[in-house]
Amino acid sequence: AGLGLLDSFGRVATDLRVSLLDRCNLRCTYCMPEQGLDWLAKPDLLTGAEFVRLIGIAVRELGVRDVRFTGGEPLLRRDLADIVRGVAALAPRPRIALTTNGIGLVRAAEDLAAAGLDRVNVSLDTLRAPRFLRITRRDRLDQVLAGLRAARRAGLGPVKVNAVLLRGINEDEAVPLLRFCLAAGYQLRFIEQMPLDPQHGWDRDAMVTAAEILAMLRREFDLTPEPGERGAAPAERWLVDGGPATVGVIGSVTRPFCADCARTRLTADGQVRSCLFAHTETDLRAALRGGASDAELARLWREAMWAKPSGHGIDRPEFAQPDRPMSAIGG
Ligand code: GTP
Ligand code: 5AD
Ligand code: SF4
Repeated sequence: AGLGLLDSFGRVATDLRVSLLDRCNLRCTYCMPEQGLDWLAKPDLLTGAEFVRLIGIAVRELGVRDVRFTGGEPLLRRDLADIVRGVAALAPRPRIALTTNGIGLVRAAEDLAAAGLDRVNVSLDTLRAPRFLRITRRDRLDQVLAGLRAARRAGLGPVKVNAVLLRGINEDEAVPLLRFCLAAGYQLRFIEQMPLDPQHGWDRDAMVTAAEILAMLRREFDLTPEPGERGAAPAERWLVDGGPATVGVIGSVTRPFCADCARTRLTADGQVRSCLFAHTETDLRAALRGGASDAELARLWREAMWAKPSGHGIDRPEFAQPDRPMSAIGG
């Protein structure tokens, strides 16, 4: 193995997030318009074998130890279990996780666990069906809840739940969501909304902040900081009523964690992104399809990461959203 994925600020990326496709079967208002987006064309998407080859290089030559599959909605890839199997067969074997909206997990959870998937994070912003329809524009809450249970049954744990609170829409559900997750044994995290939507509708004043979320929870629960190292984790975690259960808050905007970032990203069309908010990408697909060697691909990946920005810069006056929306980067 050569050098790891070092950037010019001294951080080392050991955590690879792979977006397997940009499509989704929900239409969350804060993420996509009703008609969807201009999806990547099939020939532009990496094949399963291409993903496994690049992930293999990351693992063998670049020091990546954790691989997370995201989307769009990764369960829409029919070859997901094959990709997981391919990555689980790599040496050294990375830890393998999935971030999903949960729809389709009922059918897929057992197969994915057998293929080598270690755990899943499921997005769930509300427990009320009419609200779920309003937020996601689809009437599929029951499928998500069944998917969560299927993941737990298949041992894909700890099962985590990601919730985005939207002012005036579901912000009153902080406490109910936590009660639900405590009872079911899921690990809940609240996420501050980031300016990554294609509609450019993000509004800092409308964003429900980490401080607000903690204040709402503290009216009902005793929260103490979880002891131990946080590392590069986006979530700050709190013991609920003394533990062992925890709740997390991902305060990307008001409590940024960029200084400890250990993430590198690969998009569904084979571009390396050094940061969610990077304005440049490195085209590994062209190199790969042009016959580049593993060593050459590793070199390009290292170069891409060296140029990682120090942070997202959302608070700077010159801040500009990247061209790719969240759904095409993979969160
Ligand atoms: P684990 O804690 O290891 O389970 O994973 P995770 O929290 O990194 O994964 P998940 O895909 O569930 O991410 C949850 C949310 O964290 C994402 O939707 C993002 O909002 C946020 N997030 C993940 N990575 C980054 C990052 O590099 N930068 C920022 N600002 N936010 C991130
Ligand atoms: N900011 C923060 N989180 C977002 N998600 C989607 N768009 C945004 C955004 N702009 C969340 C989804 C899902 C997770 C993968 O990312 O709700 O839980
Ligand atoms: Fe890392 Fe960029 Fe996310 Fe900050 S915004 S945590 S630097 S990927």
